Amino acid sequence: MKVLLADGLQKQSIDELEQLGLEVCSKHFDASELGSELKKYDAVVVRSATKITKEVIDDELGGNLKLIIRAGVGIDNIDVKYAESNNIAVKNTPNASSISVAELTIAHMLSVARFLNISNVTMRQNQWNKKKYVGCELYGKTLGLIGMGRIGKEVAKRAAAFGMRVIYFDSLYNEDIGDYKFEQFDDLLKKADFITLHVPYDKKRGALIGKDEIEKMKDGAYLINCARGKVVDEAALLEALNSGKLSGAGIDVFENEPSTNVELLSNPKVSITPHIGASTKEAQQRIGREVVLTLKDFFNIGDKVVI
Ligand code: MLT
Repeated sequence: MKVLLADGLQKQSIDELEQLGLEVCSKHFDASELGSELKKYDAVVVRSATKITKEVIDDELGGNLKLIIRAGVGIDNIDVKYAESNNIAVKNTPNASSISVAELTIAHMLSVARFLNISNVTMRQNQWNKKKYVGCELYGKTLGLIGMGRIGKEVAKRAAAFGMRVIYFDSLYNEDIGDYKFEQFDDLLKKADFITLHVPYDKKRGALIGKDEIEKMKDGAYLINCARGKVVDEAALLEALNSGKLSGAGIDVFENEPSTNVELLSNPKVSITPHIGASTKEAQQRIGREVVLTLKDFFNIGDKVVI
C-alpha cells in the first residue's frame, strides 16, 4: 500500500505509517504532474498547499487512488463531490486543531483590543505611543460568534472566562446553548462588540461578511477571521477600517494566500498572521495521529501493530 504525503507530515506519524507497513513518499508535486503521479498511490495526504481539483482527479482516473486525507479541517482545496463520484473517499481531521484555532482567535481579539499588533511595529521604530493606545477590555463586552461548531464552542468557553457575554448564530441551531444566546444573523451583527467567524466558505453564497453586513454592525466593532479568507470581502473590510466604522480586525486567513493585499497587511488597525490557526505542536501531533488512524481504519491494516 503506497501513501503520498504531498505537503509533509510530522516525523512521528511518518514512522507510525511505516510501522503499519505502508510505503510512504513525502513529495510535493505541481498541479500539472500531480494527477498522473497519484495513479501510483493508494492514498494521498494533503494540507492546504496541494489542490485536488477536478482536472487532477481526471488525470488520475484509471489509477490506484482510493483515499484523499486532508490533514486539517477545511476541505475547500479538494473537489470532494467529484472525488467521491469517482469512488475516491475524502476524509479530514476535524477534531485536531479546534483548541489551537480558538486560542488564536482570542489572541487576535486581545491584540486589536489592546493595540498589541501596532505597538509591536511602532516600538521597533522607536515610538512610545503610550497616550495613543488606549484600548478596551474584553470584560463585559458582547461576543457574536458566527458558527457554533467545534472551534466556535472552544472560543465561547474562553470568551466567557474573560467575562464576555456570548451570543451566537449557526444555521444548524435555533436555540440557546447554556449561557450562549442564539440570535438571528442580522441581530447578532447589530448587538456584538466583537464578531468572530467559525464557518467554512460557501462558494454559492460568496462572502458572508460584505459591505451590507458590515453596515449593520455596531460602530466601532471588531471583526476576527480565523476561518477562511473568502468568508469576508476584503475590500469592504478595508473600507470599514479606513472610515472608522470598524475599530479593528484580526485576520489569519485571506482571499488569496499568500496574500499580496498590501493595503490590508499594512493597515495599523489589523492584527495579522499568515494562516497559522492550526500551527501548534499540539495540533500538528493530533493531526498526524488522526491521519495515521484514518489510514489504519480505511485500509483495515495493522491490527496487531500498536501505534
Ligand atoms: C485547517 O483548515 O485545518 C486550517 O485552516 C489550517 C490549515 O489549513 O493549514
